[in-house]
Amino acid sequence: MKSDSDIETHLDPERLPAHVGIIMDGNGRWAKKRLLKRTKGHERGSQAVRSIVTAATRLGIRTVTLYAFSTENWARPKAEIKALMVLLKKYIISERDAFNEHGIRLNVIGQKERLPEDVLRELDTSIKLTQHNDRILLNLALSYGAREEITRAVQAISVKFKNRELDLSDITSDLISDHLYTQGIPDPDLIIRTSGEYRLSNFLLWQAAYSEIYISPTLWPDFTENEFIEILKDFQNRDRRFGKV
Ligand code: IPE
Ligand code: IPE
Ligand code: MG
Repeated sequence: MKSDSDIETHLDPERLPAHVGIIMDGNGRWAKKRLLKRTKGHERGSQAVRSIVTAATRLGIRTVTLYAFSTENWARPKAEIKALMVLLKKYIISERDAFNEHGIRLNVIGQKERLPEDVLRELDTSIKLTQHNDRILLNLALSYGAREEITRAVQAISVKFKNRELDLSDITSDLISDHLYTQGIPDPDLIIRTSGEYRLSNFLLWQAAYSEIYISPTLWPDFTENEFIEILKDFQNRDRRFGKV
């Protein structure tokens, strides 16, 4: 079996993506295949989160955004939402020390105010406790939807325009970026989706304009550090032209 260092040998540390977004999909199918409840899949999925965040930190990736709960996911059965929120709270509390030990700064993108009060409290505590960490930024996309994010930005910009704080010519692509949840964060260089679905499902639609996309057939709970590194190598072989020749 190849060791971690063998696998990392062909990874160029100078050409790592600065920002990786991950659509962590396939927990339910993972459980179904094993005749388990969907929530068991989410539970195993949270273990995969732990190992990928650790790997990304060790490799020197500066930002990771994990799509953990979408605005559309509120339409799932109440019991599944509840289980996901309980898991989320557990994850935030259990990782607190590790976040500080490894220099991980926690941030949330999405409709934070829709989250249950107890989850929000723990999130805010972790965000505050990790605010000075600077090795990696871990963005959790929670109650996140790109269309809601863009709508919100348009509303905020419209209010400023109406109050004459902005002219029409001030409304640029950069100004729009500055009104998104990801304000100040570089666009993702790479977006990975697990479970073999070829869609973005409302994830970072504005920011993904020039992201490289990698679809893995692996169901999220089975996603490993080794596969993550293989995907990073694949990314390093891509020719990013940004519309030029
Ligand atoms: C991803 O796994 C986790 C969330 C969307 C919260 P799913 O729960 O979507 O799993 P599948 O797609 O049904 O297998
Ligand atoms: C995308 O997965 C959202 C998250 C991973 C949080 P979904 O399972 O919700 O997406 P669809 O329904 O397959 O498009
Ligand atoms: Mg899914």
